[in-house]
Amino acid sequence: MSSVSAKNGVMILALNGSPRKNGNTELLLDGLLKGARSHGADVVKLDVCRMKISPCQGCGKCEREGRCSLDDEMSRVYPLLEKTHHVVVATPVYFYGVTAQLKALIDRCQVLWSRKYVLGSPAPPTVDGKRRKGHLLAIAGSRGKRVFEGVILTARIFFDALNVELGETILARGIDKKGAILEEEDLMRKSWELGERLAQGT
Ligand SMILES: Cc1cc2nc3c(=O)[nH]c(=O)nc-3n(C[C@H](O)[C@H](O)[C@H](O)COP(=O)(O)O)c2cc1C
Repeated sequence: MSSVSAKNGVMILALNGSPRKNGNTELLLDGLLKGARSHGADVVKLDVCRMKISPCQGCGKCEREGRCSLDDEMSRVYPLLEKTHHVVVATPVYFYGVTAQLKALIDRCQVLWSRKYVLGSPAPPTVDGKRRKGHLLAIAGSRGKRVFEGVILTARIFFDALNVELGETILARGIDKKGAILEEEDLMRKSWELGERLAQGT
């Protein structure tokens, strides 16, 4: 966990999908981001649940014109999604899926899906010659065997629409009480180290 401070040009966009301030998801994600910053990455963290992002209306405009008919805070998210090296999605499991607020953001990426699969102009697969990647952190209160299946599928399809390669996944079971993740030293270390690796491009 050594640190260097000079910026190294690696950009990380983190989507915090938990509404619980300083909850388990945010604490785990912040560990990753501290690790990344300590190795010079440029980090942008979006608290998705505190943003005004309306759900997709399925109007079909994006399939015809490659842009969204809605005008809200997604307009600042789209360019970030397209220029970042790494997208980190962090979410608690809610009814075997991602949170509704995060799902609204993901659904609004139908624009990127349409550009890729209908209009033939996908988001860039690389930035500065480096493959772009998507990573997933997910936390569940239970220890159910299949508890992450919905979240993993959603994340895979989201990353495909963004045209980013699948990267790494950290899944934490049996974490329910606010702050309980801090007792999971291995997971916290894993997250910090993932941040360090992303910043170092390894
Ligand atoms: C609305 C809601 C739905 C939930 N659904 C599930 C679930 O389906 N499976 C599960 O294991 N935990 C479920 N949980 C528990 C959370 O995943 C767990 O408490 C997690 O640690 C919360 O993370 P946070 O502190 O970042 O909010 C649910 C919690 C809430 C509030």
